[in-house]
Amino acid sequence: MNGEAWQSDEIRPSTVHRAYGRGASGYDAFVGSIPGYRTHLRVSASRMGLGDGPGLRLLDIGCGTGVSTEALLTTVKGAEVVAVDASAEMLAVARKKNWSPRVTFVHTRLETLAEAGIEGPFDGILASYLVSNLPDAEHGLRLLLSLLAPGAPLAVHDYAVGGSRGRTRWATANWTYLLPMASMRWGVSDLARYRMKRVGGAGGPEQMVHRMERAGFDDVRVQTVGGVQQHLVHTFLGRRPDEPDVVGERQARSSALAAAGWRPDRAEPEPDDVGSEPVDEGGPGDPGYADEIPEEVREDTGGDGDAEPDADTEPPTPPSGNRQV
Ligand SMILES: C[S@@+](CC[C@H](N)C(=O)[O-])C[C@H]1O[C@@H](n2cnc3c(N)ncnc32)[C@H](O)[C@@H]1O
Repeated sequence: MNGEAWQSDEIRPSTVHRAYGRGASGYDAFVGSIPGYRTHLRVSASRMGLGDGPGLRLLDIGCGTGVSTEALLTTVKGAEVVAVDASAEMLAVARKKNWSPRVTFVHTRLETLAEAGIEGPFDGILASYLVSNLPDAEHGLRLLLSLLAPGAPLAVHDYAVGGSRGRTRWATANWTYLLPMASMRWGVSDLARYRMKRVGGAGGPEQMVHRMERAGFDDVRVQTVGGVQQHLVHTFLGRRPDEPDVVGERQARSSALAAAGWRPDRAEPEPDDVGSEPVDEGGPGDPGYADEIPEEVREDTGGDGDAEPDADTEPPTPPSGNRQV
């Protein structure tokens, strides 16, 4: 017995894309039965604050059947999108849809992007329900960081459930609609049960924020979505620091300054003081993330990904000075 004894015999983080492949034909019908699924993806894409995005190059990593790709294209209208997935079957469903020539689909894993000829820098990355599927989330986040241009954002749109309330909410969501809908529409009940256990054991929003910070992201923020997925699904935003090699560059710079006889100003805050600042939720003081979500993003447009109206999708909450969890 090891720490992964809870996993089903068939599905492992390193092979989960095969299970998605088995369920590819039913995937859109399944996510279409989750109220707000497409709307929430558009909200997360919009929260990156990229505007209309002409000339921008974006990555949709773990694009699946293209539902998240569509969210990126409809919110960042002028951007070019490279959409990547490890499952050939999921991509085959995606490719059958009607796409703008600005979209390119690529069959590879996050871990082997360079071998597939996909290189950064990207002006923004959307990772929707990908990170919770990775064998090592922090390693995956580091790979994503390395693909971003300095200052560019990553939006992780994903489940995160923590504490007894969060886990109870997650169990209720699974037993009342996710598992029954997966059985009726998706055809891969084993994958749905695997996801229930994996997400349930992966920690809450705070842990995800810490993972992103440890991976090297700046300005990490989190906000949940509205409706039945509230406090289950979140947008985690982080940015590649403007100075990629902060430690090395700072050390080199301070050695050069010391050699020139310069002394650091002691009135400057120590790095630890800066690190203890709470991460707020975005808003006017937030360097670049969207502080308002356009009306057309928040409202359902009646696509096949939102079976029910999603009037309760909420715009971002005002900054509170605390992380939202
Ligand atoms: C839940 S689906 C999300 C699809 C889409 N982003 C959406 O929001 O509907 C997760 C996708 O991640 C893909 N995936 C899992 N591990 C991966 C990896 N290491 N690299 C690339 N894709 C991966 C799976 O094949 C699957 O299509």
